[in-house]
Amino acid sequence: MADADIGVVGLGTMGAMLALNIADNGFRVGVYNRTSSRIKSFMDEAGELSDRVHPGVTLEDFVQTLKSPRNIILMVPAGPIVDAQIAALRPLLDDDDMIIDAGNANFHDTNRRAKAAVDAGHPYLGIGVSGGAEGARFGPSIMGGGPKDCWDRVAHILEAISAKYEGQPCATWMGEGGAGHFVKTVHNGIEYADMQLIAESYGIMRDGLGMSAGDCGTVFERWNAGALQSYLIEISGEVARAFDPDTGNPVLDIILDRAGQKGTGRWTVIESQMLGAPVPVIEAAVGARNISAMRDLRLAGAKLYGAGERRLEADALGVDDLEQALIAGKILCYAQGFDLLGKASGEYGWALPMPEIAEVWRAGCIIRSSMLNDMAAALRDASGRNLAMAPHFKALIAANIYGLRKVSVTAQMAGLPVPALSSALAYFDTLTKTRTSANMLQAQRDYFGAHGFERVDKEGEHHGPWLGQHLR
Ligand code: 6PG
Repeated sequence: MADADIGVVGLGTMGAMLALNIADNGFRVGVYNRTSSRIKSFMDEAGELSDRVHPGVTLEDFVQTLKSPRNIILMVPAGPIVDAQIAALRPLLDDDDMIIDAGNANFHDTNRRAKAAVDAGHPYLGIGVSGGAEGARFGPSIMGGGPKDCWDRVAHILEAISAKYEGQPCATWMGEGGAGHFVKTVHNGIEYADMQLIAESYGIMRDGLGMSAGDCGTVFERWNAGALQSYLIEISGEVARAFDPDTGNPVLDIILDRAGQKGTGRWTVIESQMLGAPVPVIEAAVGARNISAMRDLRLAGAKLYGAGERRLEADALGVDDLEQALIAGKILCYAQGFDLLGKASGEYGWALPMPEIAEVWRAGCIIRSSMLNDMAAALRDASGRNLAMAPHFKALIAANIYGLRKVSVTAQMAGLPVPALSSALAYFDTLTKTRTSANMLQAQRDYFGAHGFERVDKEGEHHGPWLGQHLR
């Protein structure tokens, strides 16, 4: 019977949780998975919600369970599988049936797919969904992109299943084409940076201060009650306090220090470079993951140069300095992320709703934190302004920048790597310097390539006295 309000293709962890969330919110949901045994196990997991779940054993059956015009969420791995799934579905659909890609798609792919759909007269949405499995099940943060009327058609379902911040749904339309997936990509870039900043502070506590994992956990727990309150600080405390049942050791101590990644942080960096919108803290975070993965080289380096005792002198640094460093570093990193969003918004003609982006991240997503509420207020005040220039954050940075400087310098003198923290500091120092050393770059460019430079005392393009001399 064709009475499902929406369909979900792909019953991996995220798709399954999203389908249960939809059913839990009173909607009827059709489900399909390429491996049919998974459909059966999913129906068992659905329990009493299974009354509102209509399984389709074949793609044709699945399509027939959906009300017209049909709305179909794809929750399959990003990349060519999405194109293959669209190609398999389209011949079974009517013109006004809508496909909604809810995976972590590259926004260029979403732009391409959305254009193909629009050219063929089909509705299409690309939505970024954040919050991991728990978010998908109980309320994710949803960033939508595509024609506004397509969003409006399913907004009541997406808002119902989304996380709520003080009753307000964390589901927002960001703009046309790949806007939603672009915002999700930058979310993930910030996620990488936020995680790296926390990991660096943990590394200093462990190696520099000789603290146990459990003690680090207690510090994170305390920080979570202050300005750093966030999901990532909260879970860092929980993982630091967890024990491995096999060995009885802290779980953190038995986890290999080789970070994985699926690539969204890298995409953020690539897009920032293409747009000329610097995100150095995110770059440092992506780079740190890459270097962590080169374990053999690191081991060889330690053998060649000596790993050294990287313990800090007593009283060189305290956990309060680390908290300050994290507060300042976090604000500076988010300032970069929002600047990138602002630049992309202009370049791609999206008119991204900057305060609403901060708002949609206040609940449900991985980077949710109390600071995002203040960021939303600052962006509502002046949406194009760098967050570090907003009065609230100016005061916070001013109060905490000394901690960031002390931690960066002290850690580096002891040989403790802090790429994200130190890059946040370098960004701050550059951002607040009236005269940088870029005049030297301009002189060099003019010397070897006659590229010209601006002068401090005259309008127009100028060349140095060297021009012509060394070419004679
Ligand atoms: C989220 C997460 C989610 C996923 C990341 C992990 O917002 O829910 O960002 O999308 O956990 O893709 O990314 P990495 O594997 O690259 O760390």
